[in-house]
Amino acid sequence: MTTTQTTFISIAKPLVGEEEKQAVLDVLDSGQLAQGSRTEEFERLFAGYIGARHAVAVNSGTAAIIVALQASGVGPGDEVITSPFSFIATATSIIACGATPVFVDIDPTDFNIDPARIEAAITPRTKAIMPVHLYGQSADMAAIGEICQRHGLALVEDAAQAHGAEFQGRRVGSFGAGCFSFYPTKNMTTGEGGIITTNDDEVARLSRIIRNHGQERRYYHEHFGLNWRMTDLAAAIGVVQMKHLEAWNQARIHNAARLNERISELELPTGAVTTPTTRQGDRHVFHQYTIRIPRDRDGVQQRLQEVGVGSSVHYPIPIHQQPIMVKMGHGGMSLPEAERAASEVLCLPVHPSVTDKEIDRIAVALERAVKGG
Ligand SMILES: Cc1ncc(COP(=O)(O)O)c(C=O)c1O
Repeated sequence: MTTTQTTFISIAKPLVGEEEKQAVLDVLDSGQLAQGSRTEEFERLFAGYIGARHAVAVNSGTAAIIVALQASGVGPGDEVITSPFSFIATATSIIACGATPVFVDIDPTDFNIDPARIEAAITPRTKAIMPVHLYGQSADMAAIGEICQRHGLALVEDAAQAHGAEFQGRRVGSFGAGCFSFYPTKNMTTGEGGIITTNDDEVARLSRIIRNHGQERRYYHEHFGLNWRMTDLAAAIGVVQMKHLEAWNQARIHNAARLNERISELELPTGAVTTPTTRQGDRHVFHQYTIRIPRDRDGVQQRLQEVGVGSSVHYPIPIHQQPIMVKMGHGGMSLPEAERAASEVLCLPVHPSVTDKEIDRIAVALERAVKGG
């Protein structure tokens, strides 16, 4: 074995450099650690990047969803239609608003909510639809936007994994209220953090109020809010990260295309591995590069690990089957596509630090891992 073959290829690697460190030190020296000019600058930059009129920075992606839902009028007694195949925060954020998540099964080709099944789930209590742009690939925003318009429903996008993803040339987060996360494994980071993007002046105004204890003027509280604010330390990191985001997204797209090609060249039994596809005209930014392995997914993952290839399963249990969801009465139904995806998906490393040689090594390792079962 050569040295490169023994280097472990991790599934994620946050990229933070000297400029981020200096930016944080500058904020510390300035004495303005919160509600300062760095947060405003970050909001301006991010809104510009998404192509939205407003951006409101908060302290996590979870906070972004809660604030965006509340600013969109979601409250106790309402229902929000969403995907069962996501991180739990998609659903718990709805519950935190006093509303009920209503799960609609996914389209097996893009792992996102299937628009053809949405209308059957609409009731008089439905207030909003919240698609998730899973793995960095946009949900079908034309179909979902049309349903929202026809039924007078709010549109909130869980874009936590989709910084720079596009639906037919338009960035996600510019359709409804976009909710992004800056957790360290995401396509860009602020340590912890989140942001809401919107073209709706009123949603932006209410988001600013709700993230700051519901006060429009100091100590006058006309709305219910909590402290969801981003620090200027986090925003300063975000300002620097914005300079790199496009190059990092390009690197992910390059790595994903190369891995698709290498896997297509392998001699594997038919149907043993399905590689990800990107809808014509869209831009998938590959927060995760996700294959399907219908037979012995966990064994394949174990064998990859043994030869130094990291991987992960997003997600092994769909939200509607999570014990807490069943216990709270939000789960337990049958959603076969989400359940099948949970048993088959495996995410492989394509983050910007992965080299071409490593991509080739991942494909070779995958062939052996699949055949070695
Ligand atoms: C789809 C999805 N929604 C919501 C979140 C919550 O974001 P955060 O971890 O920043 O609170 C995440 C991130 O982990 C996510 O992947």
